Amino acid sequence: MGYEKEVLALRPHTKWAGQAIRFYETIDSTSLEVARIAEETPHGTVVVAESQTAGRGRRGRTWESPAGVNLYFSILLKPQLSAEKASMLTLVMAMAVMDGVKHCMDGQAGSHCAEGDEGQACQGMFPCIKWPNDIVMNGKKICGILTEAKLQGSQLEHVVIGVGVNVGKSPLAEELVDKATSLEQECGYVWDRTALLAQILECFESYYEQFVADGSLAGLQERYNAGLVNRDREVRVLDPKGEYTGIARGINELGELLVECADGSVTAVYAGEVSVRGVYGYV
Ligand code: BTN
Repeated sequence: MGYEKEVLALRPHTKWAGQAIRFYETIDSTSLEVARIAEETPHGTVVVAESQTAGRGRRGRTWESPAGVNLYFSILLKPQLSAEKASMLTLVMAMAVMDGVKHCMDGQAGSHCAEGDEGQACQGMFPCIKWPNDIVMNGKKICGILTEAKLQGSQLEHVVIGVGVNVGKSPLAEELVDKATSLEQECGYVWDRTALLAQILECFESYYEQFVADGSLAGLQERYNAGLVNRDREVRVLDPKGEYTGIARGINELGELLVECADGSVTAVYAGEVSVRGVYGYV
């Protein structure tokens, strides 16, 4: 079966996430498309594309989106939440991608994944989160997430979360070779993009419901921190007001990264303002 048929036949084990799915062979951006159809489509609608001509990344960057290799999708959310909570949804999706990838690895004969997915060492070929929302393997990025919100006063009218996962092997731009990789490149076997999408959506729905019930990341924080590649490592905080280094201790219930400085003080770093890098490289 071709990718389009597989995606359209997908019935994730969810109540709402991906229960309505639209597929495009080529589109400008799945996130732009979700924003265009937001009014007439239900919460949880997913748009998938084989390729994007204007894939968007964070900080105004473009997201290269060649056909035939990767997973590009966006999901529409209509949460009854105040506007400042939108950025936390990015972390919820990061956990879903990390765990969706792990579940697919668990199903692979010969994969090196241990039983269960809690407490696995966050290193080597296990997917981990680089705060706030990049998914990395072996120190290189395999997935990017872009969250965009439309406001109605101080409330969220809708939120679009766009996800790009590097699944198959494809040539990378020179500047990305040291920073990016793909699931196939790291694991050495071919991945089923549709099965991966289903796993991500199933994890996302469950984490999202917990997030909405708590009104914060309080109930997910421990799980997120267990997958945090930067945890207990020295990081460089690229704050526009001045760079500093410290030890990353994990996120708080607002998704801020707690960084402990040499004098013992702890700063809560908000993702909208600053970036965090490993002292010796990307993670
Ligand atoms: C990043 O810069 O790390 C975020 C990249 C997000 C890319 C995905 S691909 C599917 C969706 N559509 C887009 O135009 N962007 C997101």
